Amino acid sequence: MRNLINILDFSTEELQGLMDTANDIIDHPETYRERCKGKKLATLFFEPSTRTRLSFEAAMYELGGNVIGFSEAQSSSAAKGESVADTAKVISCYADIIAMRHPKEGAPLVASMNASIPVINAGDGGHNHPTQTLADLLTIYREKGRLGNMTVGFCGDLKYGRTVHSLINALARYEGIKIVLISPDELKLPSYVKKDILKERGIPYEQTTDLEAFMPELDVLYMTRVQRERFPNQDDYLRLKDSYILTPDKLQNAKSDLIILHPLPRVNEISVEVDKDPRACYFKQVLYGKYMRMALILKLLKEAQKSYALSCDDITVIEKKTDTPECLVNVLHCNNPRCITSTERELKHIFKLTDRENRVYRCLYCEAKAE
Ligand code: CP
Repeated sequence: MRNLINILDFSTEELQGLMDTANDIIDHPETYRERCKGKKLATLFFEPSTRTRLSFEAAMYELGGNVIGFSEAQSSSAAKGESVADTAKVISCYADIIAMRHPKEGAPLVASMNASIPVINAGDGGHNHPTQTLADLLTIYREKGRLGNMTVGFCGDLKYGRTVHSLINALARYEGIKIVLISPDELKLPSYVKKDILKERGIPYEQTTDLEAFMPELDVLYMTRVQRERFPNQDDYLRLKDSYILTPDKLQNAKSDLIILHPLPRVNEISVEVDKDPRACYFKQVLYGKYMRMALILKLLKEAQKSYALSCDDITVIEKKTDTPECLVNVLHCNNPRCITSTERELKHIFKLTDRENRVYRCLYCEAKAE
């Protein structure tokens, strides 16, 4: 079963294939109007959303399919204590494909391990948001004409900003990428992204608190919102929320062909005066997101075979009895309070080996490093 849980689930060739399909949909929408006739998308949103949920729904309707689902946990049986695993098994009886957003990191992975239909991660906690990355990639590709050989600045909440983690994962596979990480010290990019992606792949990067100092170098500026809902302490949120506010004067030294992206919603990070600047591409990004989700639904439905997905019991079978096994099941405990294992007690705690030399294990669901 093909799912999209992490952007790395797709090769760069597959990402290019999705962009080619999205471009073809833009040029020839009429040829796609019945491609999903008789199919149902289930949108399971345990956390608020405007763009992701409604663009998935618009995408399915424009493909001739139907949509079922819920937009908040309180209107589902999760409010009565139903697990993500059981929800995925139940929805597999009603729909052909699932898009799931959940506040706990790893929840869509758990769904994919229990569903018999494809599962798409529509955002899991502060972890990943691969379909936003699809929107981001198509925007960069259409606006810049390439995905490599550029300097990309990420600004704002790089700690909890799941869209940043997914886009860095994707861009790191293209030639000639340089990354500038602009954030307050408290909201720096998590070390696992820095070490496992940027250092591991030899991607040059700078860390700074000074947006304007690096502005002249940037080809892409990716602004982000400070994620109030992820902060354990609201005083810290209030102190950090206005760290960066992009205004026209701050763009004076920027390249004339810079593109400004933002996954949205924006709160205060980009002043509305910037919207008039031709370099502001964040509303085009919204539209491109719908086309990429159409392409994604088509791809996953085409590749779907009704079969039972890998279960946790299967994973124990591939565990190797060596000093440094590839996978540890119920040996270590994940202590990340944002991990799905913190609320779904029946889940096995599974850790995978990510660095054999230093014997580093990370939680399968949220990628937290084993203590
Ligand atoms: N970019 C994004 O995920 O927006 P929503 O939270 O509105 O879906």
